[in-house]
Amino acid sequence: MIKREHWGTRIGLILAVAGNAIGLGNFLRFPVQAADNGGGAFMIPYMVSLLLLGIPLLWIEWALGRYGSKIGHGTAPAIFDSLWKSKIAKYVGVLGILLPLTVVVYYTYIESWTLIYSFFSLIAKLPSTPLTGDVSDYLKPFKEFLATIIGANSSHPLFYDVPWYTYLFFVITLLLNLYILYRGISGGIEKVARIAMPLIFIMAIILMIRVFTLTSPDGRNVLDGLGFLWNPDFSALTNPKVWLAAAGQVFFTLSVGFGAILTYASYLRPKDDIALNGLAGASVNEFAEVILGASIGIVASVIFFGVEATMQIAHEGAFNLGFMALPAIFANIPLGMFFGFLWFLLLFFAGITSSIALAQPAIAFLEDEFGLNRKKAVLILGIYLFLAAQIPIFIKGALDEMDFWAGTFGIVIFALLEAVVFFWIHDSEKAWKELTRDNDINIPSIFYYIMKYIAPGILIIILAAWSVEMLPAKLTQNSINVWIARGLILITGLVAIILVKKAWEKRRTING
Ligand code: TRP
Repeated sequence: MIKREHWGTRIGLILAVAGNAIGLGNFLRFPVQAADNGGGAFMIPYMVSLLLLGIPLLWIEWALGRYGSKIGHGTAPAIFDSLWKSKIAKYVGVLGILLPLTVVVYYTYIESWTLIYSFFSLIAKLPSTPLTGDVSDYLKPFKEFLATIIGANSSHPLFYDVPWYTYLFFVITLLLNLYILYRGISGGIEKVARIAMPLIFIMAIILMIRVFTLTSPDGRNVLDGLGFLWNPDFSALTNPKVWLAAAGQVFFTLSVGFGAILTYASYLRPKDDIALNGLAGASVNEFAEVILGASIGIVASVIFFGVEATMQIAHEGAFNLGFMALPAIFANIPLGMFFGFLWFLLLFFAGITSSIALAQPAIAFLEDEFGLNRKKAVLILGIYLFLAAQIPIFIKGALDEMDFWAGTFGIVIFALLEAVVFFWIHDSEKAWKELTRDNDINIPSIFYYIMKYIAPGILIIILAAWSVEMLPAKLTQNSINVWIARGLILITGLVAIILVKKAWEKRRTING
């Protein structure tokens, strides 16, 4: 077995883990989810989900990863195989590679848009319209701009008409990601986090201060924006849709249920702390989400457009707040070009520290299970990512389809599997012992019950609700477009299963 890498320093580790979690989700997805689900109505389910699902499942994933470092493996196939004495355990674990690998394919593409936007802000080539008339009037040029960048105006039913510069920016983004990965855990990922994380905070704080000092011609100010988010609305607590959205956002923002935290934790030393590290990473992420992320997009939009319009903007699409409403506002304030540049650069940094985390499980798998060196592993991954990315880049609707199966549905299944394999199939006493050993803070024992009963119970309820509410509609979509996206996921999964089979055959011959 080749020697596995480790994190260099504790602060570096926490920054890398925070970088993993802090991403487009904090600054683009959270504000849209919150606004679309009623602002203040969203925050209570969000906090409850954080305590009952997010933190406990995060600790479980950290524990599984640290256990992996003990046995010399950083991905779920080997870790499940070791905890669950069944032939299928390793194949079930494939999800812990397949999910992040599917997400990273479209995530890096969106990341490259943020680079395009920051570049276009810098050279003052983003649209600008005076804020007169109706909201839809002044968002229109920005809608068209995004459509141009991704080639959505093509009349072809299957293909986007992607401009050359979008493609170029994507290739640059991909190469940057691969280069960081090629430099390794402490020399690449950790180093980038040490630079990018402070920059992210500085940029976000500058933007927050700017937004907080905005006022609209009709007299709205920061208090209207904050009030929309922080005045609780108890009537929405009985709405299951809001609860599902809140739980989904908690998963997405903490990067939990993908297998990526597990891989990062596998680069701990076997006796390192997980309780404090996990909590610290989550706390930094939540600060970036509910303080910084919430205070930029939503507040600015409420000040300029009002509550009704903000909810409408969020409802129309995941990208409308960050890629349309905000640049429209920046176009109408002094130095707006600079603030626009800052906003999209912030998104780019937040994105890249997450996309490298999404890619690392696949690399760890190739290194740990096939003994490949990092160079070869990154090369194989790079070829895969480049080829696979053609699908969300060129096929209409493929990105959303991939996001649904991997980023929404798959993670709930995988999170449930992590909890069940650890606490039910392996052994709950042993799992708790593994979780609570060698930590710098105590995990309160109530979490034993949350991890064993409550979190898996809630996940089962979520899955059941989805199976009734969303799956039938999803499954009756049968265009070629969505089947190409599904095909990519299925083929990738199949290849991963074959690779696992090969790796275990090889192991058997080595072990005699
Ligand atoms: N948490 C990231 C964000 O907020 C996105 C993400 C989801 C992620 N799952 C992940 C990042 C797994 C790294 C690994 O944008």
